[in-house]
Amino acid sequence: VRIEGLAARLAAIVGPAHVLEDPDVRAGYELDWTRRWRGTALLVVRPASTAQVAATLDACAAAGVTVVAQGGNTGLVGGSVPRGDAPAVVLSLGRLVQLGPVDTTAAQVAAGAGVTLAALQAHVEGSGLRFAVDLSARQSATVGGMAATNAGGIHVMRHGSMRSQVVGLEAVLASGETVSRMTGLVKDNTGYDVCGLLCGSEGTLGVITALCLRLIPERAFRLAVMVGLPGTSAALDVLAHARRLESLEAAEIMFAEGIALVGEMTGVRPPFAAGYGCVLLLEFAADEDVTDAVAAVLEHAGCPDDRLAVARAPAERARLWELRERLTEVVNVVGVPHKLDVTLPLRAIPAFADGVAELVRSVAPDARAYVWGHIGDGNLHVNVIGPDPDDDRVDAAVLQDVSARGGSISAEHGIGVAKARWLGLTRSAADIAAMYAVKRALDPSGMLNPGVLFAGGAP
Ligand code: FAD
Ligand code: MLT
Ligand code: ZN
Repeated sequence: VRIEGLAARLAAIVGPAHVLEDPDVRAGYELDWTRRWRGTALLVVRPASTAQVAATLDACAAAGVTVVAQGGNTGLVGGSVPRGDAPAVVLSLGRLVQLGPVDTTAAQVAAGAGVTLAALQAHVEGSGLRFAVDLSARQSATVGGMAATNAGGIHVMRHGSMRSQVVGLEAVLASGETVSRMTGLVKDNTGYDVCGLLCGSEGTLGVITALCLRLIPERAFRLAVMVGLPGTSAALDVLAHARRLESLEAAEIMFAEGIALVGEMTGVRPPFAAGYGCVLLLEFAADEDVTDAVAAVLEHAGCPDDRLAVARAPAERARLWELRERLTEVVNVVGVPHKLDVTLPLRAIPAFADGVAELVRSVAPDARAYVWGHIGDGNLHVNVIGPDPDDDRVDAAVLQDVSARGGSISAEHGIGVAKARWLGLTRSAADIAAMYAVKRALDPSGMLNPGVLFAGGAP
């Protein structure tokens, strides 16, 4: 490691104001959103162009330091902050904020990696199109970070996750070379899909600098439905009926404990009396009014009239969604959460959801589990409060249970450092060896995000 003079070399590339060495200024880049993961950065560097990113990576490679790419630092698996003892530079992409014109013919837009989801949404608004991925970290999460984690969010069941929106991508590899496919060609079968590979690579294969993103038509009519139900099986029954409507765009589940916590801490509650085991939140989007069709489906599904709320106006829909969106924040206030983002086959969801709190308590008797998720995708977020940040016995128990039920240990947040040691629960030895071969080929010295995905180096 040859770090003497690195700050000066980086300052010559990005300007002295964008090399952050002061510990107080660095602090926000060194601690993750959950406060479970932290490290110390040698320095934080904030390039403003792809060329500056490439020169930064060259300088870091020459100095023998590792690099952690960071967008909005909203990641929930510890991948966006430094870790361990190796001297790491945090490469913040927050200044790559250029946005191209909305191409309404191709239904695409080009965006710098540091553009936040909210900025992208605002840019596209009024064009008749919209961006298909939405999640509640929209004010801070960047499109680069969302692509790097292959983020999901609330509309995956209809429109797919982040990878499905990426038509083109530009990235700088560990070698300092730039790969670029920003032509916006929807059909381009010319070999390996490098863009697809970088989606979900969590900063381990390259630094994404720009994206060409698919847009979808904005629908004129939206309807949100909240229904209180006895439990998960009933929620799956309603989902089975609701799925018959093509307009179904979101299907979210929350449970009584989490709903009570949001109520206590924010005053936001369901617009009907308690007494439910879970609450299902559905959203429908179409070009025409689908109220009657939705009402018929809900009636057929046997939804209780006294625990049902329907909202059409944006403000009314937002009130229903607020209950769902504030879960993450209130749980984070109560403690440092162990966030276990899992998917299961839908048929396995009721037994898992009914048993997970007890499973958690069998390992950590004083722990509390708050569960919610994107039920339409079989994706539940198990949030455990109580165990120390570095006590991962609860994580092990829940992830092993998920694996035994045929599920995946990460649905949408990624592996990061939080789940690296359990990657083998979901991926075979051959899978992991293939992934590692790609890692070795693109980043032979292991400069990019060490410790993420692969715990302890080579499998
Ligand atoms: P960061 O947190 O900065 O980074 C995440 C990972 O990507 C790290 O490994 C980092 O090294 C890497 N990375 C970041 N930028 C780049 C880049 N340009 N090139 C290469 N690697 C990069 N996730 C979901 O999937 N669905 C949700 O519904 C959802 N909701 C959330 C709600 C809240 C309130 C919060 C705090 C988080 C939520 N997340 C969700 C998690 C998070 O993954 C997303 O917010 C988002 O994908 C992260 O974007 P970011 O810019 O903050 O990335
Ligand atoms: C969510 O769906 O709420 C997000 O993925 C964030 C979280 O799990 O807390
Ligand atoms: Zn989620």
